[in-house]
Amino acid sequence: MATLELKNLHVALEDGTPIVKGVDLTIAAGEVHAIMGPNGSGKSTLAYAIAGHPAYQVTEGELLLDGVDITAAEADERARAGLFLAFQYPHAIPGVTVTNFLRQAINASRKARNGGVDDPMPVPEFRKELLGQMDRLKVSRELASRYLNDGFSGGEKKRVEILQMAMLRPRISVLDETDSGLDIDALKVVAGGVKELVGPDMGALVITHYQRILDYIEPDYVHVFVNGRIVEEGGPELAKKLEVSGYEEWEEGKEAA
Ligand SMILES: Nc1ncnc2c1ncn2[C@@H]1O[C@H](COP(=O)(O)OP(=O)(O)OP(=O)(O)O)[C@@H](O)[C@H]1O
Ligand SMILES: [Mg+2]
Repeated sequence: MATLELKNLHVALEDGTPIVKGVDLTIAAGEVHAIMGPNGSGKSTLAYAIAGHPAYQVTEGELLLDGVDITAAEADERARAGLFLAFQYPHAIPGVTVTNFLRQAINASRKARNGGVDDPMPVPEFRKELLGQMDRLKVSRELASRYLNDGFSGGEKKRVEILQMAMLRPRISVLDETDSGLDIDALKVVAGGVKELVGPDMGALVITHYQRILDYIEPDYVHVFVNGRIVEEGGPELAKKLEVSGYEEWEEGKEAA
């Protein structure tokens, strides 16, 4: 079973500005953790640092996947090891279709899981899996042959992020505001897609501003994230409380701290 551990994680921007200031968090397969916090508190920075984005430097602390230190591992290495990040703002890749992108990503991960030896998924099997997942996640078939995220609507981009997750079958998924900008039907589909995958094979970290997605993906733990730190932890009831009272009680203490 997969376990991702963040130990006293500090993350800074390229210019040295500290953003994440000491986070301890363990996410295991079968668990859903939610992170909620105000704009600019460093949630996406934390997600990028987990994924290994080179612009976000871990200045202190460590990241362990199944007990193995991956703090210095490249992003592609982490992806092959089973970490997945659904971006808050997915980028377009003109020239690469959704289908080709997914096939390459899957075959890269299969190669890694096969001890570095090529083990491509047979094309008929890939097509069947892709079409099945697209139907399940209500992704329009027309998108498969379009360039990844190029001209996609906000909701289409988010659904395709979840399609990637469903196809790649990561062991730990970080979803950065995957619910933002989705209409109600899409939210249910996306949340259902995540919920189905969480289990013995996958754990999830869901970054969100809204309680609503948590109605569909009941989190085991809710972490309140303010000014680069987890300031409170609880169960699903904490998300409901935040929806009412916001973050003021922690933000007020910010200057004094
Ligand atoms: N690449 C970057 N260059 C400059 N500043 C950055 C960069 N990435 C993050 N920051 C800054 O770091 C701080 C934290 O940003 P981050 O995106 O992590 O916040 P967030 O909690 O995800 O906010 P939101 O809820 O609005 O998505 C912000 O002040 C942001 O401007
Ligand atoms: Mg963000």
